Amino acid sequence: MPEPRSIAPATGRLGILTPGLGAVASTFIAGVLAARSAGATPIGSLTQMAHIRLGDREEGRNPLIKDFVPLASLDDLVFGAWDPISANALDAARTAGVLDDRDLAPISGELEGILAMDAVFDQSWVSRLEGTRVKSAPSKMELAEQLMADIERFASENGCDRLVMVWCASTEAYRDLTEVHATIESFEEGLRRSDEMISPSQIYAYAAIMSGVPFANGAPNRSCDPPCMVALAEREGVPVMGKDFKTGQTLMKTILAPGLKARMLGLRGWYSTNILGNRDGEVLDDPENFRSKEVSKLGVIETILEPETYPELYSNVDHVVRINYYPPRGDNKEGWDNIDIFGWMGYPMQIKVNFLCRDSILAAPLVLDLALLLDLAARAGEGGVQEWLSFYFKAPMPKDAALEAEHDLFIQQIKLKNTLREWMGEEPVTHSEA
Ligand SMILES: NC(=O)c1ccc[n+]([C@@H]2O[C@H](COP(=O)([O-])OP(=O)(O)OC[C@H]3O[C@@H](n4cnc5c(N)ncnc54)[C@H](O)[C@@H]3O)[C@@H](O)[C@H]2O)c1
Repeated sequence: MPEPRSIAPATGRLGILTPGLGAVASTFIAGVLAARSAGATPIGSLTQMAHIRLGDREEGRNPLIKDFVPLASLDDLVFGAWDPISANALDAARTAGVLDDRDLAPISGELEGILAMDAVFDQSWVSRLEGTRVKSAPSKMELAEQLMADIERFASENGCDRLVMVWCASTEAYRDLTEVHATIESFEEGLRRSDEMISPSQIYAYAAIMSGVPFANGAPNRSCDPPCMVALAEREGVPVMGKDFKTGQTLMKTILAPGLKARMLGLRGWYSTNILGNRDGEVLDDPENFRSKEVSKLGVIETILEPETYPELYSNVDHVVRINYYPPRGDNKEGWDNIDIFGWMGYPMQIKVNFLCRDSILAAPLVLDLALLLDLAARAGEGGVQEWLSFYFKAPMPKDAALEAEHDLFIQQIKLKNTLREWMGEEPVTHSEA
């Protein structure tokens, strides 16, 4: 048996801070409040619903994950957020239109009491939004300091023992990393002279890490993956992970592609298109912001299929991803995939997937799991990139930048569960034994 990690207990309150109080954040908060007050089942959450097998099969040990590892309880969570538009969580939930009034009514008082703090926001990174509740300061370093002061105030006003931050704000424009992102020193110098290549999400990530608050990045932004931020998270011993919640069409891709590869079926092309009409869709209607999403979505197939190892099957794949903003659809996205595959003697076949999903319904449980698992990681003494949480991301960060991250959902799930087993002093389950 491996030595169990020494993990501090999950006593006291855990504050979950979300930059962004839009569809995902408000749906997440509402679901936790409903689970707490009305016993709603937290469907889609691994930490709340999944079991984990321990030892050999005949031992019959299969506890719930939440009974196996010391996670914060839903009753101990408190919520805070920053947003340049939404005033509070009720306002955000009503604007998003994800949840029905009958689900919001019993928790409306609690939701209304979750007020958004003024955001670090810059329209040059999200051109489609007009922010009104926005911080101002002479430099980006001072904006970061204002966020750190918010974090400290939130913790003391709410009696929090620990905090985590999960980015649930808009997707920023795609910009290359520059010299300013190379080292901690160059980044801090860039903050002081307000370098234009430092995005708002990087200012939040910096503030979180410097406050000792674990950070998860739910958008495709380049917030915690630049070298300077990884180095900072390692130096400060703060867990970070990103990026871009794995929901909807990409979730389907990472379920289907490993299956095709497992059976050595060839792929000639994968055409994905979506319509969605929420604020996220509006932001992504700008080509610069869509570019961030496109980059995060396109890596998936190639990494799973390994064309360099299987050139006959996967070296010639046309992979196209489109997102179209279509207001009548709201948060209820519709995605179509046309997948051109080929089999024995090269004969072609097609698979069509038509997924009528609800984006925020799929994303909300991921916010909960990431918050609880990053808090666990911090209590287990982890710092830096948490690759074992790849399961939750479209473009997971590898532990070592020279390595390729794993995209296969099922390998990611094994990695996650084996990490928990290892930390608790249990043998990994390889499925090769009893
Ligand atoms: N829902 C999903 O399935 C899913 C999957 C993957 C990624 N995401 C990402 O999650 C994020 C949230 O999605 P959503 O549907 O809730 O979008 P949304 O537009 O409803 O909410 C985003 C909120 O962020 C706010 N915001 C923008 N810039 C900000 C800043 N600098 N600081 C603080 N707040 C800021 C906006 O005012 C808005 O209220 C988006 O980036 C989206 O791409 C969502």
